[in-house]
Amino acid sequence: MKRTWWKESVVYQIYPISFKDSNGDGIGDLRGIISKLDYLRDLGVDVVWICPIYKSPGHDNGYDISNYCEIKPQFGTMEDFDELLHGLHTRGMKLMMDLVLNHTSDEHPWFLESRQSRNNPKRDYYIWRKGKNGGPPNNWESYFSGSVWEYDARTDEYYLHLYSKHQPDLNWENPAVIGEMHNMIQWWLKKGVDGFRFDAIAHIVKAKGLPDADNPDHSPTVRAYGMFSNLDHVHTLLQNLHDEVLYFYDIMTVGETSGLGPEQALDYVGDGRRELNMTFQFEHMFLDAASPGSGKWDVVPWKLADLKRVMTGWQTILHKKGWNANYLCNHDQPRCVSRFGNDGPYRIPSAKMLATFIHTLEGTPYIYQGEELGMTNIAFDAIDDYRDVETLNFYKERVEAGVPEHEIMRAIHLKSRDNARTPMQWEAGGQAGFTTGTPWIAVNPNCKEINAAQAMQDRDSVYHYYKELIRLRKRHEVFVYGEYRLLLEDHPEIYAYTRTLDDTLLLVILNFFAGEPVFEWPDSVKIEGIELLISNYKPDEWEDLRQLRLRPYEARVYLQQGSRG
Ligand code: NOJ
Repeated sequence: MKRTWWKESVVYQIYPISFKDSNGDGIGDLRGIISKLDYLRDLGVDVVWICPIYKSPGHDNGYDISNYCEIKPQFGTMEDFDELLHGLHTRGMKLMMDLVLNHTSDEHPWFLESRQSRNNPKRDYYIWRKGKNGGPPNNWESYFSGSVWEYDARTDEYYLHLYSKHQPDLNWENPAVIGEMHNMIQWWLKKGVDGFRFDAIAHIVKAKGLPDADNPDHSPTVRAYGMFSNLDHVHTLLQNLHDEVLYFYDIMTVGETSGLGPEQALDYVGDGRRELNMTFQFEHMFLDAASPGSGKWDVVPWKLADLKRVMTGWQTILHKKGWNANYLCNHDQPRCVSRFGNDGPYRIPSAKMLATFIHTLEGTPYIYQGEELGMTNIAFDAIDDYRDVETLNFYKERVEAGVPEHEIMRAIHLKSRDNARTPMQWEAGGQAGFTTGTPWIAVNPNCKEINAAQAMQDRDSVYHYYKELIRLRKRHEVFVYGEYRLLLEDHPEIYAYTRTLDDTLLLVILNFFAGEPVFEWPDSVKIEGIELLISNYKPDEWEDLRQLRLRPYEARVYLQQGSRG
């Protein structure tokens, strides 16, 4: 298998507005990130993915860009950006930018022009259609509730927006749009950035014939993105971007591609496809949704059998053919310890167990800010404390539909994106050391116990465990390149697998729950010469490896060298 730096890297994701505020305005900023570069270096991560910092009115915290080549003043200046990039590079780390190519802000000059008149030269930068029977062109819904169509009285037409009405979709059928995008990406590459996360890239190509004959109303109404996901032409556009721009730089690319399985993902990341290095998959993020069509808000308990099935599919199908991006948390998802672990009495062991999982799969691990501290969900009592556009739209829509308040809030507590967006917990006191002012969203009161200052001093903390996993991953190639094989497929509590590279083997044992199941040592792994590399518990002196009773959320990683000897 071809070895490359981006396969061997660990990525740390920063959500800038919530990471660190340097000037007391309650909003995280670039100088705040600069002040924490040593923290990131000490953790051992290689790449920092920074969510959008471009000029933006901020209806979706930066995923609504009004100028791709300017920094949002609240975040800082281009000089601050250059210093950040330099600061990362001098510490041996790289920077991955987050690029939103599917849509812009409705305040982008292209859109301001586009809405002027039907024959404005920028009209076709976006997707405009006539209404039908006095209403929108069809009844398709956006990601963030409500119609995908927004009426614009000036020209008496509707524009398409898969996300909020402040995020009009670009028209990638228009060669001028493609040209603008290629130039802009080139501009950032010349500055020396080391890669891109391509936001919502699966959606840039819309269904043919949109929206008329082939795209009628649906009954019941459907969310439009399902029809605009991973269509064939996306691949041509990505190949062109690769051949004309990306190919000339040694960078890392990851696409956000919802709605596909591993076979289809190979169309993006398969060796020789000339598209992306890896994509974020979402199958495991829908394991707690009542049904794929029900959207994310109708929550049911997830099942370990499904997690094994999904992850094993991605591990085996992409092996030697593509590459995985492994994550359990990001800025759009609840905190992973609250969702897949236990944020009560077993917070620390379960956070470490999940960390073990992410770092021992084949693929590049992604850590979301605060995950390395075991930060948890927040459950604000009042809707007024929430800030996220998706959450607020959902609340409004369900209230209007007559759904009882407690049911709506239950879903929000479990699934709101704000769970992951409360400020990074640096210290116990004040506003968790995030700001000296009033934070844009409230700090989680559990910062008194969960914070970086305390975690760095405690050798048994979640933070030190992440650090050790990252160190081990760099030390033993088998963590990166070893072939995955699932063990105990039907065990209801234990997720176990091996990774094999030449004559080196890793055995990973994860107890995903609070029970104490017995792990029967597999015949396929020799016990002699086995070395325990890491665990979230101290091994018991008298334990019998052949019949290992695991403690709640216990994780163990064993190394066997000369395993074929
Ligand atoms: C995916 C991003 O991760 C999310 O935060 C954003 O709201 C949408 N794309 C729209 O850009």
